[in-house]
Amino acid sequence: MRWLVSASALSALTIASQIAHTSSAYVVPPGSPGFYHGNSSAAVTFDQYSLFLDNKRLFVFSGEFHPWRLPTGQAGWRDVFQKMKAAGYNAASVYHHWALSEGKRGELDFNYYRSHTDVYEVAKEVGILIIVRPGAETYGGGYPGWLTNDPAKARTNQTGHTDAWTPFIEAVSKFVEPYQYPDGPVIAIQSENEFWESTSSDPGRSEYMQLIENTYRANGLTKIPITHNDQTNTRGTYAPGSGLGEVDLYTWDSYPNGFDCSNPTAWSGLDTQLDADHQRIDPELLWASGEFGSGAFDPWGGSGYDQCYILTNEQYTNNNYAGETHYQNLYMTFGGTNWGNLAEPTVYTSYDYAAPIREDRTLSPKYYELKLQAGFLHASPDFLLATRVGSGTVGSGTAYSDNAKVYTTVLKSQSGVSFYVVRQTSNSYTTPVSFSLRVNTTGGEITVPQYGGNITLEGRESQILVSEYPFGNHTLTYSTAEVFTQTTIGGVDYLVLYAQVGHSIEAVIPATAVPQVTGSGSIKATSTNGSVVITGSTSGISRVVFSGATVIVADKETALSLWNIRLPSSNNTLYDVTPDAPSVLVSGPYLVRNASITGSTLELYGDINATTALGVIAPSSVNSVSWNGESVQVQNVAPGVFNGTLEFGTKVSLPGLKEAEWYCANSLPEIDPAFNDSDWVTANKTSTVRPYQPQGGKYVLYADEYGYHQARGHFTGSSATGVNLTVQGGYNFGYSVWINSQFLGSSQGTNQYTTSIDITTETWSFNTTHLNEGDNVLTVVVDQTGLEEDYGGDDTFKTPRGVRGYTLLGGGDFDYWKLQGNLGGEDFPDKVRGPLNEGGLFVERQGAHLPGFPVTSTSGWNASTAASSCTPYDGITSAGIRAYRTTFELSLPEGSDVPVALQFERTPSSSYRSLFYINGWQFGRFNSRDGPQTSFPLPEGILNPRGSNELLVTLWSLDAAGAKIADLELANTALLESSKEVIVGGTVESPGYSQLRD
Ligand SMILES: *[C@@H]1O[C@H](CO)[C@@H](O)[C@H](O)[C@H]1NC(C)=O
Repeated sequence: MRWLVSASALSALTIASQIAHTSSAYVVPPGSPGFYHGNSSAAVTFDQYSLFLDNKRLFVFSGEFHPWRLPTGQAGWRDVFQKMKAAGYNAASVYHHWALSEGKRGELDFNYYRSHTDVYEVAKEVGILIIVRPGAETYGGGYPGWLTNDPAKARTNQTGHTDAWTPFIEAVSKFVEPYQYPDGPVIAIQSENEFWESTSSDPGRSEYMQLIENTYRANGLTKIPITHNDQTNTRGTYAPGSGLGEVDLYTWDSYPNGFDCSNPTAWSGLDTQLDADHQRIDPELLWASGEFGSGAFDPWGGSGYDQCYILTNEQYTNNNYAGETHYQNLYMTFGGTNWGNLAEPTVYTSYDYAAPIREDRTLSPKYYELKLQAGFLHASPDFLLATRVGSGTVGSGTAYSDNAKVYTTVLKSQSGVSFYVVRQTSNSYTTPVSFSLRVNTTGGEITVPQYGGNITLEGRESQILVSEYPFGNHTLTYSTAEVFTQTTIGGVDYLVLYAQVGHSIEAVIPATAVPQVTGSGSIKATSTNGSVVITGSTSGISRVVFSGATVIVADKETALSLWNIRLPSSNNTLYDVTPDAPSVLVSGPYLVRNASITGSTLELYGDINATTALGVIAPSSVNSVSWNGESVQVQNVAPGVFNGTLEFGTKVSLPGLKEAEWYCANSLPEIDPAFNDSDWVTANKTSTVRPYQPQGGKYVLYADEYGYHQARGHFTGSSATGVNLTVQGGYNFGYSVWINSQFLGSSQGTNQYTTSIDITTETWSFNTTHLNEGDNVLTVVVDQTGLEEDYGGDDTFKTPRGVRGYTLLGGGDFDYWKLQGNLGGEDFPDKVRGPLNEGGLFVERQGAHLPGFPVTSTSGWNASTAASSCTPYDGITSAGIRAYRTTFELSLPEGSDVPVALQFERTPSSSYRSLFYINGWQFGRFNSRDGPQTSFPLPEGILNPRGSNELLVTLWSLDAAGAKIADLELANTALLESSKEVIVGGTVESPGYSQLRD
């Protein structure tokens, strides 16, 4: 099947095809407009070295970010994009979530946090390029619940499946079309993720891949390359030339340290084959990673994300650079939250992912480390053209160091710039090693350091050292310190070097002038044999000034607080982060978001978390500095160089929830035999087309067959002796069962790393006193942990949720079953918060989570009094579900960013589960037995930082003994003075009780 192009695109293609292809090996995919540089007139092109935008090479330093995991709309997304930009990211890869956008088949909705346009507009404003990926790694793999009922096999070319996805993919294409570079920020679109080709036993895969690509092209996506992210890392799946379904831009997927955060120091070995893989698949490919693990998810019962930060730090990315990877997307860069049932069963509410930007939007140490890497990559255009000239260690491969524990990869550009990626030969080595290095210079090969001392690598550390490295009009002959950045400011060429605190360094720059050194005093510089020779050990910041150049030497701790912020410029696009885009250097603040010069004032915007020493290097035309709009007292210590202090004075106090006024209500009236379930759906299906068949019982009770996840079965007569139930709800699911108000018991699953229980079968015996002659009611309440993904393409996402099978024991059968779930099922009322936010508990159906719920006038809701406690701290004394509601006021200071979290105290011996809603948004599911999550960030805009907030917390005791929440309080996880945008009105626009239930 071929796609059609419009006449204008066709003529562009005709012109392009007359240009000889630069490569014999690279095959333009059939149907593709062709994006190979020199073979295409497209604005986005690439060759084996790099992507080009407008004919200019760039390193794509991208971060994965899912806007819908931060449902605050543009204000929150701007914050994340600004933080990415400040760290040197020039791109973001975004998933667009099908299930959230099509809760009911045929009713597409891209409003609010589902908007594409709003994401692209903010990215365009901030200067972040976008890689679009329709799909999602989340509930159902992003597939809508209704798709689980489709008999067609997903991720194949079966007609039923094509019919299902086509409206969504067409809609995505239409949103992207006007934002294709250069009109907008979108530089690529992915067709499928972590996919594979058709085989004789698994047909229709490549055909389906091609159908998606055809749909993109037919809907105007003719200006950007289509990508695939190869789960086999580097097998070349769907690479150009591979046949049907092949894409324009092949990318590989890699998580070198895996995901087991409970073993955080078990690092995988050094991958020395990355470059060889490139050569093997096709040397003409741009070597690009569509997903590279910069973090890990954590399961229910896991060890928590702090452990994942140890498992996955930034050192592995240097190995990518050694492998000539020039396009890299770090998954995740901001993970966000699996709010509103977005999780799939292998992960809990937090999708922090141990990402550079944490779930509460604060900056992790990894963020600052990556800033140093991105700064270097953008400052080094020669790096994009450097190829490997040797790699290895003493006794193996090509030795460049004199220490057998140091593995060196040497890359060299045709222009003579060399890059030495050094790391220990094994990632299990944790002690420092010292070495000297042979480097290539125009004066021949020399061993450095020349003037005494050694280069030192800490355990698991990796460094990139350079020789014959140009900066402005100068050249660094070599340095044993790493380069953060280079930029020319006010005619002075700046080079910023750094090394671990106290490490000795040596750098040589040809110049005849006598250097002047200011700063910490630990660095010396001499004029020796026609060069400036810088030696010493790093401590704070030193400046070495000579003939039109300044070399800044910083210890690494200090370097982490350095910012190289681009200034707006008519000669450069906003996306341009190369050294020819003008910039300023700033030291000190927690974050610098923006810099611009108005008149003679340098205006800086950003965040501080303490009183901060500010250092600024700006063009000499600048004579004053402002911070977040306020002028800063600065000392002008040299032309364009300023020092000052940013005073921090913000204090915050949060209301205590224990002192708050609480109301409570029973959230399980359904176990009362008299409860009227006549308006519930009758489960009347006796067969299912799913690959997963029932395990007993006349009726199919799967929740998604009816859109629900709660079941109530009726049978007549007192002869039954018990029931055999099989319930499936995903890893760490739980369920409880009652016969006529009598609690029978509960059962729970476990996680994927232990006993992997997502389904259990139990026999529950009835006591004759439980039963009536007439109608008897069995009530099963299931807490499911989300639909599976479809990782293996075997329709795993259709795995049932709810009662998988049942048998009434002792004779007779259930007469009928009634099912219930979120109010309205696929006709959910809340079109703002979307199809997944609400669950099926009684109080959720009632709307008690919604702002404005009339707690004082709704029957069943009682105020807590001294005589009769009604707070989660006292809880319940038997199995069941109770809901608690309170309101609280916040008055967080203006000009601040105060991330607030709701914090639970776990009682692991107690099997209870809570979910909570803040202002109508379900922002957490807490599992006291399994954990590990106890702190649940409440993003600004969902939480009102300056106004009233409404909180609903449920408490479901799976134990007969009941349960209580040992502690539940608000806490701020950071305190920043910030220029971050404030959401007008305090919260995002969303409906309340009167709109949705009244
Ligand atoms: C799907 O692809 C297979 C080949 O793998 C082909 O035989 C079949 O006809 C295709 N189905 C449709 C509906 O196009």
